[in-house]
Amino acid sequence: MKALVLSGGTGTRLRPLTHTSAKQLVPVANKPVLFYGLESIAAAGITEVGVVTGDTEDEVRATVGDGSEFGIRVTYLRQEQPLGLAHAVLTAREWLGDEDFVMFLGDNFLIDGITSVVEEFSASRPDAHILLTKVANPSAFGVAEVAADGTVVRLEEKPEAPRSDLAVVGIYLFTSAVHEAIDRITPSARGELEITDAIQWLIDRDFTVRSTLMEGYWKDTGTVEDLLEVNRIVLERLRSRTDGRVDEASELVGRVSVGRNTEIRNSRIIGPVVIGDGARIHGSTIGPFTSVADDCAIIDSGIEYSIVLEDSRIEGVRGVEASLIGRSVRVTGAPRTPRTHRLVLGDHSTARISA
Ligand code: TTP
Repeated sequence: MKALVLSGGTGTRLRPLTHTSAKQLVPVANKPVLFYGLESIAAAGITEVGVVTGDTEDEVRATVGDGSEFGIRVTYLRQEQPLGLAHAVLTAREWLGDEDFVMFLGDNFLIDGITSVVEEFSASRPDAHILLTKVANPSAFGVAEVAADGTVVRLEEKPEAPRSDLAVVGIYLFTSAVHEAIDRITPSARGELEITDAIQWLIDRDFTVRSTLMEGYWKDTGTVEDLLEVNRIVLERLRSRTDGRVDEASELVGRVSVGRNTEIRNSRIIGPVVIGDGARIHGSTIGPFTSVADDCAIIDSGIEYSIVLEDSRIEGVRGVEASLIGRSVRVTGAPRTPRTHRLVLGDHSTARISA
């Protein structure tokens, strides 16, 4: 069995970060969200992994490499344009051959991994197998109608009047039957080849499409709010460690991980918080639920429930919350009284904020 990981797309909902960077590489607890998926693929015993890329191919290649770090072998498959999830499968057609495969959306996060569903699929080998989860707002998702035995009878993409509260999760298992379906479907109103249309094509022709209802946490990290929530979930499982230097005037409360060559002076860190290597935290309050990447400086500031990417500097700003701050960003205080600040700053931004 192979794995196909989709790491192309445009990521419009995560602009401006995705102007300069792949959305699958935004770190959650200081690790790219894509890495959690690759780890769960490796844990399921799959070693042949095709990574579909788009405009951000160079960055994905530089970050993932040949996959040996994960115990997998990565082949990069360039999708010239993001023309839909089924189009990504079409792009990978030759590489996939006639093998069964799991398709994993590179920006999806699931806490339980995929080992049990891969085993279930391999044992019973339906033509396709999807994962479902109960959601409060099904209209925002692909929605499945399912018979009592788990067989999928109908799929609809973002329906106005959903027939169930079961959303399609971004992990799909296919036999080679899906290729014929993709050959037969046509682009949707939004101009994309939809994987839900391919699966519906299979259902309509009496191929077997089965489903598993997932109990564990799942999130499609398409927006800042989603990323901050996944960051919180991952940090809740954080182990404390202190590899850096923490002076006597500082206090670490709860689970806090401090990287190598990081210096914490006269600060209060309220866990769960992860701080990468080579960072400087002076006179600041950080946390809870905050990830600070390598080489950042947080000086005379306060930040909580946020993600800060590498090499950024926040100085003289209290009350930063629910923020996603890109790489090499400068945020400095300006002479006015602050309340709170919600920031979505792309890489290399400069912001001046009243402090
Ligand atoms: P989406 O989140 O559906 O699409 P997107 O990346 O274009 O984002 P946005 O809606 O904010 O513009 O894509 C799900 C995953 O699949 C994501 O990891 C990107 C990837 N993808 C491809 O690799 N090729 C494609 O043609 C599409 C549509 C998505």
